[in-house]
Parts: sequence; structure tokens; C-alpha cells
Amino acid sequence: MNPPESDVLRLDLHPVDDERDLGRFAVLTIDRPDKLNALNKDVMDGLKAVCTWVESTEDVRCLVVTGAPPNDPPEGKRAKPHAFVAGADITEFLGADSHTIRERFTDNAVEALWGLSKPTIAMVDGFALGGGCEVACSCDVRIASTRAVFGTPEINLGLIPGYGATQRLERLVGYGKAHELIMTGEHIDANEAARIGLVNHVVEPEELEARVFSMARTIGSKSSHALKVGKVTVRAALDEGLTDGVAVEAEAFANLFDSEDKEIGVQAFLNRTKPEWQHR
Ligand code: COA
Repeated sequence: MNPPESDVLRLDLHPVDDERDLGRFAVLTIDRPDKLNALNKDVMDGLKAVCTWVESTEDVRCLVVTGAPPNDPPEGKRAKPHAFVAGADITEFLGADSHTIRERFTDNAVEALWGLSKPTIAMVDGFALGGGCEVACSCDVRIASTRAVFGTPEINLGLIPGYGATQRLERLVGYGKAHELIMTGEHIDANEAARIGLVNHVVEPEELEARVFSMARTIGSKSSHALKVGKVTVRAALDEGLTDGVAVEAEAFANLFDSEDKEIGVQAFLNRTKPEWQHR
């Protein structure tokens, strides 16, 4: 299966470890900078196809999601701002009714991203508003530049978030802060987003790519089997009570002792070598 092609998305593959040929991490760039990378139907269809492809290929070990930087402005015009994604494409909301929207938002690309068994990192440089904030919340880790701006401004359109922010943003920042963001529609800067737990790290714009790629390489160098089990098990914390969640972990942990990668990892530690995982 080949990577899907799209006019509004770019997909770049980078090696995890040149020497050991461990596979790659993929960088998915949402590429509509003139519209601040807003999520129109083409982006959502393309994003879903990319998720299907990432899940199907053993070559990709980690997915980075980002937005394209602004184009150079035409002469005499101001440059557009940097954006991760400035939300759902609002032009597609005009005249839309519940039937259309229910169809479009059910089983959508943000859920496909959330549903990936592989690790995902949002690389956020600029506006991450509405659906953009929700794409970021659907990744496992968020790393932002100092010029990132987060918010859920749907309330200003007479709406609420529709790609999961009432649930996933709430899990990241807590009940009170999620309410505040959703009810006021106000923007917060990257440092405030880090303070409330919405982003993991904030770095200068020129350091963002190196920081994200370094994490993607680190994660990509681990046993993909252990990563998948870890992702499912941490996710159990969102859906299960503490007692049931700890039981899920105990079972997953025990099962990993039947995996070849456990033996490979332990032997490598004891022999002071790098593990050559069975599940790469
Ligand atoms: N959907 C469709 N188009 C969008 C968009 C969106 N969510 N966000 C920005 N754009 C478009 C603008 O219409 C504009 O297009 P144009 O140049 O063809 O007129 C272009 O992107 C640049 O945006 P602009 O508003 O001119 O930039 P700005 O620097 O003045 O303001 C924002 C930046 C992010 C504050 C502003 O664009 C904004 O509020 N966007 C909507 C955010 C939102 O409500 N998201 C939730 C949607 S559910």
C-alpha cells in the first residue's frame, strides 16, 4: 500500500536511526497556509487516508502532525500568520444542517488520528484553534513553539467543539479550565497552555523541529510492540476507574513477559548493547 497523495497534505519520511535501519517517522503537514491550514473536507479525507496508511505500514513507527508555514505574501500584502490549524473550515458551515454535519463529523479523521496504535506528536507553531486544538489533543504528545496560540472559539460561532475537545481537552486540562476555554472562546499562549497541561514542551520556533524530531527518533527506537501495549494501557486510564485500570496494566505488563522484545531488551541492558527489537 502506497502513501496516499493529496493536494492539501504533505507526507515526509525521516529515518529513526540511520545506522540500525529501524524504520521511519512520518511528518504529516496540513498544507493550506493561505487559509491557516483550516480543516476542509479534502484535508479531513486526506488525513483519514494517511491514518489508514500509517497503521498499515510497518515502516512508520511514529507520526508527527503539523501545519504548513505561511507563504511569502504577494507584494504589498501582509503575511498570513503562522498556524498549526485555525479550526474547521468555517466556510463549509454556512447553510449546513444537522444531517450534513452529523454525517461529516461521525467517524471523522480526528477520531482516526486518536485511534492510531502508533505514537503521535503534534508540532504546533502558530494558531491551534477549534478543530486545530482538537487535532493537537488527539495526538499523544504536544510540543509547541513560543508563537503557538490555543483556543476553542466555536462559542463565538454559536457552536461548541465537535472533534472531541469537550472530552479530550477536559482530560488534559481538567473540568474547570476546559469549561473556561470552551465558554469564553478566549485564546491562550503557549506558556499558559504548558502551565495548564495542554502542551508538554514549549521551545523557540527555530528549535521546534529539532525538538520534535529528536523525540520522534527516541520513541521510534523503542519496541513497537511495547509502545502499542503502552498506548492502549495508558488510554485505559481515560475509560476505566483506577482499580480496573491497574488491573488492565497488570495483565498487559504480564503479557509482555511472553514477548521476544522483553528478552531482547533485558539482554541488551545486561550486555550493555543496543536492543535489536523483533517488533520494529
Ligand atoms: N476557516 C476558514 N478560513 C479560515 C479559518 C477557518 N477556521 N481561519 C482563518 N481562515 C482564513 C481567513 O478567512 C483568511 O482568508 P482570506 O485571506 O482568503 O480572507 C485567512 O485564513 C487568514 O486569516 P485572517 O483571519 O485574515 O488572519 P488574522 O491574522 O487576521 O486572524 C485568526 C487569525 C486565527 C485569529 C482568525 O483567522 C480566526 O479567528 N480564525 C477562525 C478561528 C476559529 O474560529 N476556529 C474555529 C472554527 S470552528
